[in-house]
Amino acid sequence: MTLTCLTNIGELITNEPGIGDGPLGIVHDAAVCFDDAIRWIGPAASAPSADIVVDAGGTAVIPGFVDSHAHLVFAGDRAEEFAARMAGQPYAAGGIRTTVAATRAASDDSLRATVRRLADELLRAGVTHFECKTGYGLTVEDELRALRIAREFTDDVTLLAAHVVPAEFRDDPDAYVDRIIDAMLPQALGLARWVDVFCDAGAFDEARTDRILTAARARGFACRLHANQLAHDGGVDLAIRHDCASADHCTHLDDDQVARLAASHTVATLLPGAEFSTRSPYPSGRRLIDAGVTVAIATDCNPGSSYTTSMPFCIAVAVRDMGFTPAEALQAATLGGAAALRRTDVGRIAVGGRAHLVRLDAPSYIHLAYRPGVAIVTDVWKDGVHAVREGQVAHA
Ligand code: NIG
Ligand code: FE
Repeated sequence: MTLTCLTNIGELITNEPGIGDGPLGIVHDAAVCFDDAIRWIGPAASAPSADIVVDAGGTAVIPGFVDSHAHLVFAGDRAEEFAARMAGQPYAAGGIRTTVAATRAASDDSLRATVRRLADELLRAGVTHFECKTGYGLTVEDELRALRIAREFTDDVTLLAAHVVPAEFRDDPDAYVDRIIDAMLPQALGLARWVDVFCDAGAFDEARTDRILTAARARGFACRLHANQLAHDGGVDLAIRHDCASADHCTHLDDDQVARLAASHTVATLLPGAEFSTRSPYPSGRRLIDAGVTVAIATDCNPGSSYTTSMPFCIAVAVRDMGFTPAEALQAATLGGAAALRRTDVGRIAVGGRAHLVRLDAPSYIHLAYRPGVAIVTDVWKDGVHAVREGQVAHA
């Protein structure tokens, strides 16, 4: 395979403390050479020869972002609901049903085209690996269809059949939980890696969540959980008890829950776009980090509560309003996302590891937060392929 050498890098963030300075493993005046894997990292002055040499012009290069929470298989949008919220309406889980109706009516091809469009947006924003949930089908056929389409784009596919109780089961939510456990879980084997539940007011209570997670684990699925977004309850404790890789949102936590998270193997995934777009109070990343919790930042891209694919935007909000330093936010959006997906092959730039690199049109990663709303992701290499050039997706 062709060897590319990206040289004259002003600031290379490796996330490998052994390779460079500080926790981000920063190497200055660096070069990195790669085919589909990273082959060499070191001072630009001693870079080996390569087939393709790219001059980074003194700019910053970071690992590709890892988006560990995205809902991409849906139809339609909910712009009017957003506008109503900005005029004072509260966010409620029930809005999901609007998207369910549109998604059920959509063709496979139109759903696939939406995921393609959003996956391209993610790539342009520097996201080189993402998780993708179902959750807008809520029938056996529609959830399986969403799983199959999601699998065309990522190996981190999540069955979120327990997103909300669909209208046809409104009077008998337990019958819908039975449907998930008896019909959806068995058929999702081999398609989904993860099972997720929206455990919150207006969605699934703790008892129903517990039943679904117990059944999912018995079938060999790993779990993750939407927890403590809208209300202060025991979602996060269920996540810990079921060894969920991640508890997502964590908007409302008490100090004991923070301490229990810190002692667990569950990552706290914060979703700045959700609080931004629902005008909710931001959770404190500072409080979690200071307590020793492993923290991830993800986009939560979905048409209801967070219709963004911009990880740099999420980083900027996390720094401005959630108490992260720029370094902590970058780490949460790369290594944190990898931890939330229990992966070691993404989120870092290390010799022998996958070549997922992002070049910023900026001298430092700090500009991700310092220049909010400015598209500074300029080049993206995914598994060594130069997939974004000058800010545009280059389709093969
Ligand atoms: O993560 N919280 C649950 N699911 C999404 C919202 C989905 C929707 O409103 O359509 C979220 O915020
Ligand atoms: Fe979500």
